[in-house]
Amino acid sequence: MLRKMGFENDIKEVLLSEEDIRAKVREIAQRITSDYKGKNPLMICILRGAVPFFVDLCKCVEDYLEMDFMQVSSYEDGMKSNGIVRIKKDIDKSIEGRHVIIVDDIMDSGNTLNHLTKLLKTRNPASLKIVCLLDKPKRRTCDITPDYYGFIVPDEFVVGYGLDYADAYRNLPYIGILKPEVYSDEK
Ligand code: IMP
Ligand code: MG
Repeated sequence: MLRKMGFENDIKEVLLSEEDIRAKVREIAQRITSDYKGKNPLMICILRGAVPFFVDLCKCVEDYLEMDFMQVSSYEDGMKSNGIVRIKKDIDKSIEGRHVIIVDDIMDSGNTLNHLTKLLKTRNPASLKIVCLLDKPKRRTCDITPDYYGFIVPDEFVVGYGLDYADAYRNLPYIGILKPEVYSDEK
């Protein structure tokens, strides 16, 4: 159960400021711009956590691209992965022969993106890469790494800029560590 103490008061520490995020997003977009020249990549946003990152990233890519959206779930409302990845909403476009870039907020255990890439590869894309704003490599249980990532983060539960706890905090413009009191019922 989410025990709100007053929105920003729920944050223990700001990990990444708006400025940190903006600079890193530009840097990743520049790499994508040069790596995908003439390839018209299909950027797939993983709903809902990747939305702010996806929008900012796409706006900074200086070339043709297309957008599509997919929703999967392995985390329900809490903080622990149940290990099951379910497709809640599939993309609308065919990816056969396309250069596909999956955009997600964070790679944690790697379970979600491991399942998702396996599935998308069966649809024969020309290439398939993963961009994650955040990476928590210490928590990995699958043999997978993002092709592009913004920041390595410690093994703490972070929220903001799309990342949620019980669907809250996605609208914070920065990324912060949640006070343990907020989720102490689960510990
Ligand atoms: P994975 O399958 O364990 O890699 O988890 C991927 C998903 O778990 C992410 O897309 C997030 O929705 C969620 N997640 C993992 N770590 C965090 C966190 O620290 N804060 C918020 N969501 C997280
Ligand atoms: Mg997510």
